[in-house]
Amino acid sequence: MEQLIIKGGNPLRGEVNISGAKNAALAILPAVILSEGISTIENLPYIEDIKHLVEILENLGAKCNFKDKHTLVIDSTNIEKYRAVYGSVKKIRASYYLLGALLGRFKNAEVAMPGGCNFGQRPVDQHIKGFKALGAVADLKNGMNKLKADKLIGTNIYLDVISVGATINIMLAATKAQGVTIIENAAKEPHVVDTANFLNMMGANIKGAGTDVIRIIGVEKLHGVRYTIIPDQIEAGTYMIAAAITKGSVTVKNIIPKHMDPLTAKLIEMNCIVEEGDDYIKVTAPEKLYATNIKTMVYPGFPTDLQPQITTIVACSHGTGIITENVWENRFQYVNELKRLGFNITVEGRVAVTKGPVNLMGAEVFAHDLRAGAALVLAGLASVGTTTISNAKQIYRGYENIEGKLRVLGADIEKV
Ligand code: UD1
Repeated sequence: MEQLIIKGGNPLRGEVNISGAKNAALAILPAVILSEGISTIENLPYIEDIKHLVEILENLGAKCNFKDKHTLVIDSTNIEKYRAVYGSVKKIRASYYLLGALLGRFKNAEVAMPGGCNFGQRPVDQHIKGFKALGAVADLKNGMNKLKADKLIGTNIYLDVISVGATINIMLAATKAQGVTIIENAAKEPHVVDTANFLNMMGANIKGAGTDVIRIIGVEKLHGVRYTIIPDQIEAGTYMIAAAITKGSVTVKNIIPKHMDPLTAKLIEMNCIVEEGDDYIKVTAPEKLYATNIKTMVYPGFPTDLQPQITTIVACSHGTGIITENVWENRFQYVNELKRLGFNITVEGRVAVTKGPVNLMGAEVFAHDLRAGAALVLAGLASVGTTTISNAKQIYRGYENIEGKLRVLGADIEKV
C-alpha cells in the first residue's frame, strides 16, 4: 500500500505549475467516442483516474497513444463496442460519462455502475431521466446500466438538482440527437464549459454552457481535433491553501484566476495576502490566520472538492469556524483522521465546527478518499513531527506528482 511520509513544519516557498483539470479530462476523453477521427488532447493530468479511463477506451476499441505524459492521441474511428464492464469502470466515478457518449454514438450503451469517492449515495437518477427524455430505454441489471434507443430526439430537460455529471452526460448524448435539446437548471462548473468547448470544436452546436440553460442542436457527425484542457481548479486551490497553512509564500502558476475567486475571497478573509496575475496567483501567509465560515455550493460558489482542504486550514486558525457541506451528505469522514493530529473539530450532520489555534503533532492517518487525502497532506505539512498517510493511492487518483511538486516548494515529503 502506497504511503506518503511528511515531516512537517517547513514553510513552502517558490512556484508550482498546475496540471490539467482532472474533472474536465474525465469528461473530454469519453466525449472523443462521439467523433470519428483522430484527436490530440493536450495538458492531460498524469494521474491514476486518467490511466483507468484510457484503459477503458482502449477496451472499447479506441487507439490511444501517449506522445508524452500529458498528450494523448486518440483514434476513435474504429470503436465498435458499446459495453464497458466492471474492471476499470468501478475505479472511477467519471465512467458514467461513457453512458452519454456511447448512447450518442451507438444509440446503445452498457456500462457497469461507476466507482469513485464515497461521500454519500451519489445517485444517477438525473442522468437517466435525461437519457429517457431523449428517447432511450434504461435498465439496470446485474450491476450494468443499459441504455438503448431507436433514435435520440432533442427535448427540454429540467434537472431537479444541479448536477455536473448529469449536465455533461445529457450534453454528450444530445450532441448527436435529432433536433434541439434544452437543459434547464444546468451546472455551470468550469469543466462543463470546457467539455462544451471541446464538443463544439469537434463540430457540435452547443450554446449557453456556463449558464443555467444549455441549448444543444444535434449534429450527425463529429470530427477529431487538437484540444488543450483547462487547468485544475482544485489542485490549484490545494496549493494555495498549502502556502497559507505552512506560513509560506507560493506562486501557483498556469491557472485561471477567475476559477479561484471563491477560495481567494476566503483566504483574504482569513488574513492572507493574495496577488493575482493573468495566469497565476501568489498566496502569502500572514502572521496570524483567522477562522472563517464556509458553505459549499455549486459553481460559482465554494467548491465541495476544496471543502476538506479549507476545513483543515480554518481549523488551525484563530477562532471558531463553521463549515457547511451543502453538496454531499457524508463528506466529513476525514475529520476523525485530522483529530489524530490534534485538531479540534466537531461534526454534526453536514456542519463542522472548528476551534483554533491548535498544536498539531504528526501521527499515522488513513486517506479515505481523494480530497480527504489532500487535507491530510496539508495537515501533515502544518504539524510538528512525522505524519504517515496510508492508502495514498487515493491522492494519486487526482494529484499529479504531489510529493515532487511539494518537495520543490521545500516540503519534507516522500512516497514509499
Ligand atoms: C462531480 C465531480 C465531483 C464533485 C461534484 C460536485 C467529477 C468526476 N466529479 O461529481 O468531484 O464533488 O461534481 O462538484 O467530475 N445528484 C442527484 N442525482 C443525480 C446526480 C447528482 O441527486 O443524478 C446529487 C448528488 O447526490 C449531489 C449533487 O447532486 O448531492 C451534485 O452531484 P453532481 O454534481 O452530479 O456530482 P458528480 O458529477 O457525481
